Amino acid sequence: MNAYKNIAVRAAERAGNFVAKAFANRDRIIAQSKGPNDFVSNIDEQAEQIIIDTIKHSYPDHAILAEESGQHGDSDTVWVIDPIDGTTNFLMGIPHFAISIAVRQKGKTLAAVIYDPIKDEVFSASNGGGAQLNNTRIRVSDKKKLDNSVLATGFPFRSNQDLGEYLRYFETIFPLCIDMRRAGAASLDLAYVAAGRLDGFWEFGLSEWDTAAGILIVKEAGGFVGDIKGSPFQEKSKSILAANPGVFKHFMKSVKDL
Ligand code: IPD
Ligand code: CA
Ligand code: CA
Repeated sequence: MNAYKNIAVRAAERAGNFVAKAFANRDRIIAQSKGPNDFVSNIDEQAEQIIIDTIKHSYPDHAILAEESGQHGDSDTVWVIDPIDGTTNFLMGIPHFAISIAVRQKGKTLAAVIYDPIKDEVFSASNGGGAQLNNTRIRVSDKKKLDNSVLATGFPFRSNQDLGEYLRYFETIFPLCIDMRRAGAASLDLAYVAAGRLDGFWEFGLSEWDTAAGILIVKEAGGFVGDIKGSPFQEKSKSILAANPGVFKHFMKSVKDL
């Protein structure tokens, strides 16, 4: 398991260094639209290739599920990759994005890394091995309720998303907490919950590559993860709530009648 984590960290750092260099020379970035409000750049694609090459060098038979190039191969062991989580921030010159990699075997996540190349922060976890930030153990915060808590969220910016439903949840939760952040990189939102920098995070409509690594890191840091309707989180869940245990329970109780 630690061997997987070591390779995941190596791949994330290689890609992260490449992405950070590109961020410093933004005139070389070529962006295209993938759909309404959804962008990809040459840097996302090249970073993804760096990650895939690093993994394939050590594990040529493993499968890959990567945001930009899709599924490669078929195996019980799948590496789930988001080469730049926070592409809109990256393109706008906002220094808040990350590389996210999870290793899954028969559906169970064994190792995970989220690397912020601007702050040089490596958030990582292995199943049963706890969660770390740059090799120091991290834990979720210990707030017992939403009062005094700071949460993060992501807005439903895609045209097929139900803004009305999102706003009903927002209207219910926002008055109960201190404040809400929308920083633009779901993987880092999850990593920050794990590190106790945020008390919870919720969003609708994320994909596996946005959340696979962050979920393991939050759980290994003592947090709870579910979907926003109170069901256990599954790969294809349409919403996510990740929080420390107290905030998670209070959030669920507060939205149960929506
Ligand atoms: C996006 C970011 C953002 C979230 C979006 C994701 P991308 O990932 O995580 O915070 O709100 O739903 O798609 O497209 O930058 O990899
Ligand atoms: Ca993403
Ligand atoms: Ca991405």
